[in-house]
Amino acid sequence: MPQLDRTVTAPTWTDCHARGERLARIVGEAKLAASFPLLQVVRMSDAQFARLEAAALAYLWHSLSAAFPERSFGLDRRLLVEYRDALLDLPNRTPNGVILPRRETFLSFNMIHQVLANVIQGAGMLSAFSHLQIPCNVRLVEGTPDRDTDSRSYSSTKIHTDVWNGEPISSILFNIPVLGDPAAVDLRFYEPRNFPSELRVALSDYKLGEPVASSVEEYPVAFQMKHLYISDALSLHQTVKRRPALRLSLDFRAIAREMLPGESADCSGSRATYITPDAWSACGLTTILGSGEPPDGFHRRRAGEAVIREALSIRDVDDLSA
Ligand SMILES: [Fe+2]
Repeated sequence: MPQLDRTVTAPTWTDCHARGERLARIVGEAKLAASFPLLQVVRMSDAQFARLEAAALAYLWHSLSAAFPERSFGLDRRLLVEYRDALLDLPNRTPNGVILPRRETFLSFNMIHQVLANVIQGAGMLSAFSHLQIPCNVRLVEGTPDRDTDSRSYSSTKIHTDVWNGEPISSILFNIPVLGDPAAVDLRFYEPRNFPSELRVALSDYKLGEPVASSVEEYPVAFQMKHLYISDALSLHQTVKRRPALRLSLDFRAIAREMLPGESADCSGSRATYITPDAWSACGLTTILGSGEPPDGFHRRRAGEAVIREALSIRDVDDLSA
């Protein structure tokens, strides 16, 4: 059995220890590839990862085919290299790289959620949470540094915690690299040396967290396929763009059922939607995550246009009376 990576330094701020113990309880009996106080790395089985990879590829293929109907796209691992420019031009891709499930593509998005729910359930972690985020972010990022994008207030290339962007302190962050080159578009995790209470709030720019971000200890762990990176809200992370290549990853947050002193399950500052574990695990099965938005609805609405959202309905093919 390979030895786990671990940090050797002791935390210097008072509640880091309790947060680390809670995170260890959340991952429980899951198979660990690495373990640090504020980051646990869980190993996926080959079968689980193969399903996640295939579902993500199908979703990208579906998005490309809906966006560019005059072109034909092959569905295999070369898709990220062969159709790089078309992927970066997808009308349902936000400036943060999130590929939004839209009217033409939400059906394949449900496959991703179904596999993801199986992975979290299979690792025995679902009951550790009171609420989980829908939808998960399917994020496609390119590894060439870009001064304009990377200097935005909430650019993920700055060392930050999502608490500074309105996520609750009780939230646990999941990051899962699925396709492309995670070494080219790396994700680094850090433990702060201290975390004053006045900085445990939403900030208007990640750079305002500099007193915390400037004195962190990096966790020595590679960002690689077949692993789930599960981190406490008061750890820090950063996207590091190393070279031109694409990386697709999933990210979402979940609220710990076990609350620590000073925490609450209040998600009102978050822009994400949180639902119960039962409702979350039904998604992609008996609950379909849908959208009546056209593929380019996000960008058109941002430009001030009124975008029509179509109503959704599901026809049960087994209901003979219908
Ligand atoms: Fe983040």
